[in-house]
Amino acid sequence: MDRGLLYGDGVFETLVVEDGRPRFWLRHIARLHAGCARLGIPHPEENRLLEESLPVISGVDRGVLKIIVTRGGGGRGYQPAAGVSPTRIIQLHPWPDYPETCRGSGVRVRLCRQRLACNPALAGIKHLNRLEQVIARREWNDPGIMEGLLLDGDDRLAEGTMSNLFLIRNRVLMTPGLVRCGVAGILRTVVMELAARVPMQVQVKALGLDDLWGADEVFLTNSIIGIWPVIAVDGHPFRRGALTQRLQELLAELPSDGETWLN
Ligand SMILES: Cc1ncc(COP(=O)(O)O)c(C=O)c1O
Repeated sequence: MDRGLLYGDGVFETLVVEDGRPRFWLRHIARLHAGCARLGIPHPEENRLLEESLPVISGVDRGVLKIIVTRGGGGRGYQPAAGVSPTRIIQLHPWPDYPETCRGSGVRVRLCRQRLACNPALAGIKHLNRLEQVIARREWNDPGIMEGLLLDGDDRLAEGTMSNLFLIRNRVLMTPGLVRCGVAGILRTVVMELAARVPMQVQVKALGLDDLWGADEVFLTNSIIGIWPVIAVDGHPFRRGALTQRLQELLAELPSDGETWLN
């Protein structure tokens, strides 16, 4: 009877774990808290989530930590019952077996037929309703295509099914604004911060297919994949450029402090 299962009434985070430490812990918890606030779910304290996560990831060389918070159990019907208390689920998953070439040589991607609906109330947060992504991901089975790009209903580029999208043109880094749909990725924010050190100007704005076809470099981000250069979209070639490579290097060089890896 949990509302997470019944209605997708909750939020989640997916974090990299290395040597028993979660990566970008504070950033993930901040987004989880922001998502809870938007949905009116009382958020579990950071300390409590940490106490519950640490035993799960202790001694893990490399894995994926998933934290799910739902509004909790309670009754049939959409109206949340009074006094319902949130459910916390902590999961450890194996490291996904993406080929190493994805980061190095880049990936081929496709444009999905599925569109993302405009819904400012949900845009940006990592809520549990992921049917649009499920429908989009069912569009292809070719193991050589690593990701699908999604447009919104007004032909604006939004993101990938599991990643955020960046375009580079004339040394300017561009990524779609996510006020109408999409997930405000943790790696997306990290990459925008790193851009200042390249240095590159960053523009968050509406982008269309013309911007994509005219881009010098294209790449995808998420917490698990890091930065994947895109070398083709539906057969249209892109080069794995020097600026994408520089951002990959800066990401790999982030200091091993509490900001990046929880100590
Ligand atoms: C739909 C969607 N967009 C974007 C992202 C990237 O988010 P993050 O950088 O926080 O992993 C994800 C991650 O799974 C996602 O599922």
